[in-house]
Amino acid sequence: MSGNYEIRRFDAVSKDEHGYAEAEKWVRAVAFGFHESTRSPEHVAKSLATYQADRRVLTGAYQTGEVAPGSLPADVPVATFGTLRKTLNIGFGRMLETQMVTAVTVRTSHRRRGLLRRMMSEDLDLARRDGIAMAALTASEGSIYGRFGYGVASFERTVKVDTTVRFQLNHQAVGTVEVAEPTVLLDVAPQIFDRVHRVTPGSIGRQEWYRQLASGSLGRDGKEDPAVKVALHYGPDSTVDGYVSYKFLGWDTTPYTVEVVDLVAATNEAYLELWQFLGAIDLVERVTWAEAPMDDPLAWALADPRCIESSDGRDMLWLRILDVPAALEARHYPVDGRLVLDVLDPLGLTAGTYALEVTGGEAAVVRLEEEEADLTLDVSALSSIYLGGVCPVTLAAAGRIREHKQGAALQARGMFAVERSTHCLTHF
Ligand SMILES: CC(C)(COP(=O)(O)OP(=O)(O)OC[C@H]1O[C@@H](n2cnc3c(N)ncnc32)[C@H](O)[C@@H]1OP(=O)(O)O)[C@@H](O)C(=O)NCCC(=O)NCCS
Repeated sequence: MSGNYEIRRFDAVSKDEHGYAEAEKWVRAVAFGFHESTRSPEHVAKSLATYQADRRVLTGAYQTGEVAPGSLPADVPVATFGTLRKTLNIGFGRMLETQMVTAVTVRTSHRRRGLLRRMMSEDLDLARRDGIAMAALTASEGSIYGRFGYGVASFERTVKVDTTVRFQLNHQAVGTVEVAEPTVLLDVAPQIFDRVHRVTPGSIGRQEWYRQLASGSLGRDGKEDPAVKVALHYGPDSTVDGYVSYKFLGWDTTPYTVEVVDLVAATNEAYLELWQFLGAIDLVERVTWAEAPMDDPLAWALADPRCIESSDGRDMLWLRILDVPAALEARHYPVDGRLVLDVLDPLGLTAGTYALEVTGGEAAVVRLEEEEADLTLDVSALSSIYLGGVCPVTLAAAGRIREHKQGAALQARGMFAVERSTHCLTHF
């Protein structure tokens, strides 16, 4: 069935540039796929300007046969798929160039004909040929991407924090927090994020839109958001090392609530002191944040950790290793050792038996023909444990990893550990 379609790839371009009409139709198709209202021409132009800054590649599937009379014309894609490349922090400050997959939609009337499978398989293959060892995405549903070799590698949760008198942090401030004009974040946000990115395993580079969102310049509805307010954290040396962007949700909310739009702190102190600031906003009784870490220092710094009401954890970053030796050799390992991994791959990109030999924290990976494996696992499970955010022992208990040598899953847990909890602050 997917033979009745042509797949086309093109770059995001700005208004007045060649190819804008095609890019515009692609953006509208994505908005349709995610059930948004039809985007205004201005909103589309702003979106495409940010996509161009990110050097996004836009992929569309187009009908090649006759189009039903009166239906959307053939130049409107029936399926969309977007990619951009940024670095992923893979622990201990190391970075790995990663293919970020986004904007995956298939028009209802063309679904379940293999279009997603075709676009995904082709794109992963192209990325791998281009020397990219990792792909990543965030998923709307949990059951779609495992079949393509993706595994959950990080989690997040929503917190509602009671900021009435109960809110007391056991922390002596070393810096200060000051309110700023939101637009300062157009410059400052990428700089601070870059610092956070370098010290946070699981962090993936942010797209251009984030600084616009944090500064209130471009909200999700394509307009400026005048409700956004911003505070900056200054470290002991008076340089800015963190910020919070937030909104008051209005006098109709009970309790009176502030919602965090973005909270990015490059030091432990900046994180706690931005929370001290949020907890001190007068007339406000609750602060919510939808992208909070699972393993949150805030809970341990609060005199009463029950000030935090949290949702269950949600999967956040999904990873897909495209090249096992390249991905494994890119990492630093806190524990030396040797593990033989038998990797299964539903798309056939990485299947094989590999010996991972770590000496002095550095890995050498060789492909083996004969040797018996210590662990057998699907590439999705290997991708899950790669960032140290998912425990191999748990995956063994779930039957996702088969242990042939006793203790091998525990050994993998030690080897794949990272220096602090995995957390990804970038949705895409
Ligand atoms: C999810 C979506 C992109 C799937 O596209 P599609 O072209 O119908 O998928 P395909 O026909 O290529 O199916 C590929 C495989 O995935 C499975 N699959 C597709 N969507 C699925 C879903 N929502 N849940 C479970 N399995 C799904 C298919 O059954 C098929 O399995 P198989 O190849 O093992 O038999 C499409 O339904 C969609 O646009 N949904 C709304 C937007 C969305 O959720 N996008 C994802 C953003 S992260």
